Amino acid sequence: MKILSVVGARPQFVKLAAVADAAAEAEGVEHVIVHTGQHYDAAMSDVFFADLRIPAPDVNLGSGSGTHGRQTGSMLAAMDEVLEEHRPDWVLVYGDTNSTLAGTLSAVKMHLRVAHLEAGLRSFNRRMPEEHNRVLTDHAADLLLAPTEVAREHLAAEGLAERTVVVGDVMTDVCLRVAAAVRDQPLRLPEGIDPAADFAVATIHRADNTDDPERLRAIVRGLQSLDMPLALLAHPRLVAKAEAAGIDLAGGAVRVGEPLAYPDLVAAVQRARAVVTDSGGLQKEAYLLGTPCTTVRTETEWVETLENGWNQLVADPADLPAAVGRPRPTADRPDHYGDGQAAQRVVALLQERAR
Ligand code: UD1
Repeated sequence: MKILSVVGARPQFVKLAAVADAAAEAEGVEHVIVHTGQHYDAAMSDVFFADLRIPAPDVNLGSGSGTHGRQTGSMLAAMDEVLEEHRPDWVLVYGDTNSTLAGTLSAVKMHLRVAHLEAGLRSFNRRMPEEHNRVLTDHAADLLLAPTEVAREHLAAEGLAERTVVVGDVMTDVCLRVAAAVRDQPLRLPEGIDPAADFAVATIHRADNTDDPERLRAIVRGLQSLDMPLALLAHPRLVAKAEAAGIDLAGGAVRVGEPLAYPDLVAAVQRARAVVTDSGGLQKEAYLLGTPCTTVRTETEWVETLENGWNQLVADPADLPAAVGRPRPTADRPDHYGDGQAAQRVVALLQERAR
């Protein structure tokens, strides 16, 4: 059986790590990896393949950045040839990026079967490009691999129950494995942060937070006025938008650093006093690692993290210092995201349902 995975952006490489391992362990599975080239900086791509020991991509489409239509279109145009050559039993697409949508569209039009990993997540915020990518992908795909019960309910409400299987969350597989390996590793934090004292870790990259200069300025001001030092691991979009708007990211509590490799990120989150983010993956990683998270958005797809106060949504950046400084919750973190074996379940299911 041949599975062809389409990936392109940072969070997809983490999910791919789990699937690539499970595919290598399973008997009779050939796994082809296609990298669209959406993320191309070494720190956003290569280090993930190296650190998570993912086999090098078989194909790189080299699509790069651009407006949504141009970026998605260039991937779509390049995918046809790849699928014609490989003719997989399953095209496996991951999450909610433009790479997910391009891989899906190309495959379904060639009558190849598509499985969507991390199906059924919804923010119900139509301003987010990711929300359109999720909805369109779920409705086009043949098999919907849902991470949670809540995701299954969303799919059922859209008439997609028959195509849905809850498999658990593959990011949990990787996060738990890496967390155990890096427990005592020295931290790679930006200069000026004492790893032995309280510190926070932040990432901000969503268009809604970065692309309006007033909003971005307010967020940076909120972060700078925290009462503990904060490592801001700056995504290229954040750096570019701040520069264009004349906003200095560093200052006050904020120390700016480059995006971290995945094991370094997990080590930092594990030891941090708090996380501030608008990333989906990081909210969940903070939850799994028991670090309180503050999410700079009006909603989250990972609603389970809000239970018992482990994650808190903050729409107004002026509220950041109070939210980030809140006491660490003492209540439980129920095991909503599976048992760390989701990827094995995915590969077994694809094998079972291969024609
Ligand atoms: C994308 C995904 C988002 C995911 C995120 C993880 C979409 C619509 N969004 O957002 O779901 O959470 O990846 O990081 O697919 N850039 C670089 N170097 C890189 C990659 C990007 O400099 O290696 C810059 C480019 O100027 C680009 C900008 O960052 O225009 C944004 O990149 P893009 O791929 O459009 O989306 P992300 O914000 O990364």
